[in-house]
Amino acid sequence: SLLLNLSTVQPSNLPPKKMKNIVVFLGAPGAGKGTAAAAVAARTGARHVSTGAMLRDAVARGTPAGLEAKSYMEAGGLVPDEVLYRMVAELLAATPDGATLFFDGFPRNEAQAAKLDELAAASGATVASALLLDVSREALLERLGGRRVCPKCGAGFHVKSLPPKVEGVCDACGAELVTRVDDQPATIAHRLEVYESATAPVVGFYEKAGKLRRIDATGTPEDVAKAVEAQV
Ligand code: AP5
Repeated sequence: SLLLNLSTVQPSNLPPKKMKNIVVFLGAPGAGKGTAAAAVAARTGARHVSTGAMLRDAVARGTPAGLEAKSYMEAGGLVPDEVLYRMVAELLAATPDGATLFFDGFPRNEAQAAKLDELAAASGATVASALLLDVSREALLERLGGRRVCPKCGAGFHVKSLPPKVEGVCDACGAELVTRVDDQPATIAHRLEVYESATAPVVGFYEKAGKLRRIDATGTPEDVAKAVEAQV
């Protein structure tokens, strides 16, 4: 009958929509979140989302979000949550179903972690796991002190552990490498304090949710990428 035919096209008879998956990368400044997320994203087809890189781009382009974020970033403090919520909501809405996103730098306090669950639920996404990259403070300082970045394409290098093929030149696009404005010693010290007070509690948030995976990030960039890949 007509009624029966109609019932076969009800939404409940369609295959379930594929969720968008989020993997959160946690760890102190310089732990290697960006390096590992970029390497594993390139191998797995996941999308690497760095809120720090998005904000640096907004600052460079002078957008309203960039103008609001600039002074906080230069001082090594956290940009107001609302700026991040707008960015993340737009990004999730623009992400196709079934995609995997590696979140590097968000969430950075407990309010952001709770908000991420809310924003994810509203756009058919779920936080699958949170990977904590664990390294000593000495290693963090060594990694941040030797970091060089490409201002044009965002690629990251280290003068010792991940040197570019030609000193001072980006392997990917040939631009001249720079030191990030927030990689000055006094700003690094402040960023590490902000991490301890605001961001470290996020580890407990995901531990309680049963989503935390600890990763020893003391090895080479390749060792860390392999350990991360085994968890995603
Ligand atoms: P963001 O860009 O996120 O900076 P961060 O968290 O301080 O992290 P880093 O980028 O410094 O470190 P990383 O762990 O990614 O290390 P990397 O892979 O580069 O944020 C910047 C600012 O934006 C914040 O201070 C804040 O103002 C704002 N912001 C961003 N998100 C926000 C949010 N959610 N809320 C509010 N404000 C926000 O590695 C470091 C170096 O070590 C590199 O040179 C690399 O080559 C090298 N290295 C990496 N892995 C290894 C390894 N295994 N062995 C040896 N060397 C390695």
